[in-house]
Amino acid sequence: MCGIVGVLGDHEVAPLLVEALKRLEYRGYDSAGIATVNNGRLDRRRAVGKLVNLSDLLVHEPLAGKAGIGHTRWATHGAATVVNAHPHKAGPVAVVHNGIIENFRELREELAAAGYAQESQTDTETVALLVHQAMEGGATPATAARQTLKRLHGAFALCFLFDGEDDLLIAARKGSPLAIGHGDGEMFVGSDAIALASMTDRITYLEEGDWAVITRKGAEIFDEHDRRANRAETRIQIDATRIEKAGYKHFMAKEIAEQPVVLADGLRHYSRSGTLHLPAGVDFTGVDRIVLVACGTASYACHVAKYWFESLAGLPCDIDIASEFRYREPPLSPKQWAVFVSQSGETADTLAALRYAKEKVARVVSVVNVPTSSIARESDLTLPIMAGVEVGVASTKAFTSQLMVLALMALKAGVDRGRLDAAALAGHLAALHALPGLMNHALGQSGEIAKLAEELARAQDILFLGRGLMYPMALEGALKLKEISYIHAEGYASGELKHGPIALIDAQVPVIVLAPRDALFDKTVSNMQEVMARHGKVLLISDAAGVAEAGPGTWATLTMPAVDPIFAPILYAIPAQLLAYHTAIAKGTDVDQPRNLAKSVTVE
Ligand code: M6R
Repeated sequence: MCGIVGVLGDHEVAPLLVEALKRLEYRGYDSAGIATVNNGRLDRRRAVGKLVNLSDLLVHEPLAGKAGIGHTRWATHGAATVVNAHPHKAGPVAVVHNGIIENFRELREELAAAGYAQESQTDTETVALLVHQAMEGGATPATAARQTLKRLHGAFALCFLFDGEDDLLIAARKGSPLAIGHGDGEMFVGSDAIALASMTDRITYLEEGDWAVITRKGAEIFDEHDRRANRAETRIQIDATRIEKAGYKHFMAKEIAEQPVVLADGLRHYSRSGTLHLPAGVDFTGVDRIVLVACGTASYACHVAKYWFESLAGLPCDIDIASEFRYREPPLSPKQWAVFVSQSGETADTLAALRYAKEKVARVVSVVNVPTSSIARESDLTLPIMAGVEVGVASTKAFTSQLMVLALMALKAGVDRGRLDAAALAGHLAALHALPGLMNHALGQSGEIAKLAEELARAQDILFLGRGLMYPMALEGALKLKEISYIHAEGYASGELKHGPIALIDAQVPVIVLAPRDALFDKTVSNMQEVMARHGKVLLISDAAGVAEAGPGTWATLTMPAVDPIFAPILYAIPAQLLAYHTAIAKGTDVDQPRNLAKSVTVE
C-alpha cells in the first residue's frame, strides 16, 4: 500500500525522502514522487515504476529544499501514471495520501462546479483542491486543512506541504496509521516507524482522528474535536526496524530461513519448563465460543487453528475472512471471544471487523506482528507473534508464528476447559518445541525443491490437495504460489476432489498432495490414486512412512521429517513456501514485490 514520508530538515531533504521511501518499498507500490519547498517555492517530481526511476529523474531535474514530502503509490483510483502519482498539487498546497476518500466523487463535482478542475483521476487531488479552495477564501494552511478534513469520508493518512512555508507540515490520520518522528531541530512524518528509522528513534503515533501542525520546533497535535491532545513520545528499537537481506537474494528467502529461530524464540517467550506463559488475560474459563477473523494467509492460520481449538479444547470455533465478516453482521454473544489475526495489524478489513465485534463479545483479542499497530491498540488483549519485520509481500515467518501463538492459545483453552491435564499439556508443548529442529531439516530440502520448481514453472494450473489440518495448508500453498509465480493455483480438501475439481486433471496439471502419515493418510492416498488414474502428475509431500506406503506412480515425492500430526501444518508450511519461492525464481518474477500486491492492505 501507499507509503508516506515528510521531513522538515536542517539540510537538503530530497535524498532523505528517497531513502525513507526505499524503506517503504516493501509495502508495494507502482509510482513514486516527492515535493519540496525551496526559497518559498513548492515543486515536485514524480515517476512511474520503481524508485530508481524517481532517483534518475532527480539526477536530471534535482529538487532543492529543506522541507519536503514523499510518497510511494499503490494505485486505487486511476492507473499508475505520472499524472496520478503523488504528491498532488493544487495552488499553494501539495499532499500525499494513503487510504481512500469515499466521498471524493461528490466533492470533485462540487469543486468542478466552483471552477476547481481536477487533472488526475485520483481521490487525493480532490483533497488538495479543497485545501486550495479554502486558502483562496482566506484560510490559513492549518485552518484550510482542518476544514478539509471535516469534509472527508473514508480512511486516510495525509501529509500537506505549502508554498511559501518551509517550516510547516500538516499531518492527519483517520483509519490509516501515521507516525511523527522527533529529531534535533528536525521533524519527520512517516506512514510507519520503519520509514523514519534512519532519521530518528523518537516516535509519536497519531491516534484515530488526530491531526497535527508540525514545525521544526515540534508538533501540536489535535484530536478529532480539534482539542489539543497529548500523545506520548516513544523510543522505537531501531534494530526492530532493520530491513536487510543479510546475504540472501530475496527477503522472502531470508524470512523462510529465519523460521526455526523465530519460532524457537517465540515458543521460549510463551512457554517454558513444560508449561504455558501466556498473558494473564488468556483465560478461557466461561468462554463458550470463539470466532477467528483475518484476511489472506492470516485467515489460513485461523483455519488451521479452528481444528486445534475444536480438537484440543472442545471449544466451538467459527472462522471468517474479515471482508465478509464485517458486512455479514454475524450475531455475536457476550460469552464468546473474537480473535483477529494480522501480520501488519493495519489490514483495513480486519480492523473494521474488529470494530464491529467490539462491545458485542466478552473479549477482543488480537494476534499481530506489529504491537503498535491499530489492531493491537484497539484490542482488549494482544498476543504479539514476535516474528520481526516481515518484508516479503508473501507472508512466511509471520504465518508460522501466527500458528505457533494460536496453537498455544488452543492448548490454554484445553487446560482451562478441563480437556488437557498437566501431562498432556507438557506432551503437546514438547511437540511444539521440537518443531524448530524439524523445520531446519525441511529447509534442507530447498535444493531438491528448486529442481522440482523448474518443472512446475512450466505449468499453467497447479492444484494443492490436503485433508484435515492439511486442507488449510493446501489453500495456503496455492495462495503462496499464485502470489509470487503468477501461476493459477487452487487448494482443495482432498475429499472434495471428485465433486468437481477432478474435471481439471490431465497430464498437464501438477497436483501437490500434502499428506503426513496421520489418521487420514489412507483416505488422501485414495484421492491421490484417483488423480494418477487420470494421468495427473502428483507431487506427494509426506514423511518417510507416508512416502513408502503411498507406493509408485507419483511424479515426485518430498520427504519431510516425521512430526506430531497435530502440529504438522507448522512444518509443512516450509515446503509450500519453498515451492512457491523456487517456482517464482524459475519464472523470473519479482519475488519480494509481486505485481499488483501490497504488503499491508490498508484499503477495503
Ligand atoms: O497484515 P495481514 O496479516 O493482516 O495481511 C493479510 C493478508 O493481506 C496477507 O496475509 C496476504 O494474504 C499475504 N500477501 C499472503 O502472503
